[in-house]
Amino acid sequence: MLRVENLSKIYPSGDSKVTALGGVSFDFEAGRVTAIIGPSGSGKSTLLNLLAGFDRPSSGRILHDSTEISKLSDAELADYRLRHFGFVFQNYNLVSILNASENVEFPLTLQGVPRAERTRRSKALLEQLGLGHRLTHYPSQLSGGEQQRVAIARALITNPSVILADEPTGNLDTRTGKSILDLLLKPATEGKTVVLITHDPAVAELAHTILRIRDGQALTGEF
Ligand SMILES: Nc1ncnc2c1ncn2[C@@H]1O[C@H](COP(=O)(O)OP(=O)(O)OP(=O)(O)O)[C@@H](O)[C@H]1O
Ligand SMILES: [Mg+2]
Repeated sequence: MLRVENLSKIYPSGDSKVTALGGVSFDFEAGRVTAIIGPSGSGKSTLLNLLAGFDRPSSGRILHDSTEISKLSDAELADYRLRHFGFVFQNYNLVSILNASENVEFPLTLQGVPRAERTRRSKALLEQLGLGHRLTHYPSQLSGGEQQRVAIARALITNPSVILADEPTGNLDTRTGKSILDLLLKPATEGKTVVLITHDPAVAELAHTILRIRDGQALTGEF
């Protein structure tokens, strides 16, 4: 279980401040897919980045099982993320000097997995994602949708217990999007926690739980 308690994020902006997230409490349950929906600028990516520990909350707590993530040091957090979390960025964030397979292998490299095993696992996953013919292509040589699939593979390669994805099907056509989504949703059937941001009602419909965000607040109750 991944839990946020009264989570806030305030960004300085010149002389004023932007409250990107204004005190959100929510339980992201294991074995379930939670879709975060809400208008552009409502704080969805801010929340996901805090969950992943890429950014620090201004106040509030984040707990994963018995670990208070928001209390870990930077080094502990990086190590924790590597062992437990997979993240798909809104803008992919692939490493431009690594090819598709090397990008996917990267978390395994950090985990110290031997090269032969890394290559084998990366190839198998990229083949599942329909990119078996693009293993040695660099990000600049891939289409947007292909880069997105490489980013998804990189998030899944370590078999993480929490998968966080920011608009994972944004650049994919309906058919590709559906099969990619299946790959992201499957871990929930194995007890993992899956959280994805989407603007697509068809994607949100596949989730078990919906978290609506508006103006940095979680909307609960009737809609
Ligand atoms: N680093 C930052 N500094 C200042 N303001 C920021 C920063 N990051 C985000 N914001 C502001 O916080 C608010 C929430 O941004 P966020 O990226 O979380 O929105 P979002 O819901 O993911 O939107 P979208 O659907 O367009 O991706 C926005 O008003 C944004 O301008
Ligand atoms: Mg966003």
